[in-house]
Amino acid sequence: MCGIVGVLSKDKDAIKKVISCLKHLEYRGYDSAGVAYPYNNEIKIIKKQGRISELEKMLDFNVETNCAIAHTRWATNGKASDTNAHPHQVGKVTIVHNGIIENADELKKELEKLNYHFKSETDTEVIAALLDNLCQNDNDKISVLQKLEQKLKGSYALGILFSDDDALYAVKKDSPLILGISDDDYFIASDVPAILDYTNKYIVLEDNDIVKINTDYHIYNNDAKREIHHFAYTYDLNSKAEFPHYMLKEINEQPLVIYNLLDKYLKDDLIKLPDLSKYDQIDIVGCGSAYHTALVAKTLFEEYSDTKVSAYVASEYRYQKNFFSPHSIAIFISQSGETADTLACARQVKEKGVATLAIVNANLSSIARECDDVIYIEAGPEIAVATTKAYTAQITILSLLALKVAYQKGLVQSLDDIKQDITHIKEIIVHLINDINYIKIAKKIYQRRDIFFIGRLIDYAIALEGSLKLKEISYIHSETYPAGELKHGTISLIEENSPVIAVITYDKTIDKTISNIKEVKARGAYNIILTNQDLDNEAFDYVIKIPKVNAFLDPIISIIPLQLLAYYVARLNGCDIDKPRNLAKSVTVE
Ligand code: AGP
Repeated sequence: MCGIVGVLSKDKDAIKKVISCLKHLEYRGYDSAGVAYPYNNEIKIIKKQGRISELEKMLDFNVETNCAIAHTRWATNGKASDTNAHPHQVGKVTIVHNGIIENADELKKELEKLNYHFKSETDTEVIAALLDNLCQNDNDKISVLQKLEQKLKGSYALGILFSDDDALYAVKKDSPLILGISDDDYFIASDVPAILDYTNKYIVLEDNDIVKINTDYHIYNNDAKREIHHFAYTYDLNSKAEFPHYMLKEINEQPLVIYNLLDKYLKDDLIKLPDLSKYDQIDIVGCGSAYHTALVAKTLFEEYSDTKVSAYVASEYRYQKNFFSPHSIAIFISQSGETADTLACARQVKEKGVATLAIVNANLSSIARECDDVIYIEAGPEIAVATTKAYTAQITILSLLALKVAYQKGLVQSLDDIKQDITHIKEIIVHLINDINYIKIAKKIYQRRDIFFIGRLIDYAIALEGSLKLKEISYIHSETYPAGELKHGTISLIEENSPVIAVITYDKTIDKTISNIKEVKARGAYNIILTNQDLDNEAFDYVIKIPKVNAFLDPIISIIPLQLLAYYVARLNGCDIDKPRNLAKSVTVE
């Protein structure tokens, strides 16, 4: 997925503004970057493979122009290269694009017959050529863009400049796009953080919106009226405060984020939360870490609320055969609220008349807007690609939902205990962050080629998340297995000093997991145990002991040591922790 930005300003500093905005979108992709702006009666393009900082070295910020578009790329069609970088220009059309055009090959063949020749491997260049061709017979840009929408299949957020028109245009379908408004400027951007240096006023564009911006803006889509929103957070996106990485800053924000959510909903005895006890089928769906929260929720609901829950990976759920009852609900978990597979599932399920609930971080994101109901996790913008505070905030909401069902079923007689427990939760999390020597542990494993995680039931789900954190920022291969499953094959990979990280927080499976730890120890493994139990065993090589608080709170905090272990392993390996290779913060393509 990529980030696009456009600005049309009363001033002549559009290049400075558009690059400043683009930097806040670099979490969306950072293979290459580019900018285009009107200059000397043409649209000038400067673009380069690599980070935005490489592009900046090529720019003259003294060039006076009131309009510019820019792009930071996560490669989908065609490798990261100068040629494949955006913007793309064909004839009088110059565009930046986030999304995937599914019929690009077919359109490209038609355009080649019309004597168009392509330099790049991208679907975006095909859009530019198609637009240029449509302009041959129609001088009305809005009419041309409406025709474009008829021809394109797939997802797109487009920023467009025409060499014979001084307006900035945008078109949106399936990929996110906002219109930012300040006294002096209009912005288009893939996400709100891009514009916060200049304004917090924005409009969320809807599918098939065509926007024309010059001295004012107009949205062409059946005379749609769009509400102007004000972004709530005064989040300082420019600094990591005193932290070396956004990931560490966001890990340290967890005590407050988690406490605020628990306090907010427990204060009124969970009344503000949806009542899930009326459903006889609950599907929880997400990708990556969001899927891991679904697995944690499954054990919480089933073990403590006596409620069956199914957890699914979104990219599987949308293609498998799903069975719904008249009282089913599908819950979609997504930090960004824009993940393509999760959004597609929500749309698909909603079309079948099934109730949908979104648990998301990004306000007014597509998944939030398209589900019947939404619970915002209020974690504030999460910049590091590897999620931490959003993950624990999602677990917090899911845990409170399970607690509400248990309370309504009389399985939990009173909320007083947990209300008492949360008065210490901030201190407990701060203790987990500051009082365990993660660097010492990291030094034992950071040079290993393979690292294994094991756990049972909810501990397996926590181990999956710990493993993903490690993989995605340290680039060390790591696998997670249900502890009882290891001996059915994978144990063949265990050799002298193979690190095995075992999670033991779930009362029912302590002894069994200890047996599995002994099995790998007998084959030379180096065992690191994460536990909230008072355990000791000669098979344990290193124990990370954490406090045991409450069955509904323990899964929220158990992951924190694994977040920090991954962080310090990555730091020892000199990795780019906030922007790991090949990744992007939200995958808005399938
Ligand atoms: C987690 O650290 C990863 N960045 C990734 O697995 C992420 O959780 C996944 O892409 C889902 O993103 P979403 O929550 O924005 O839908």
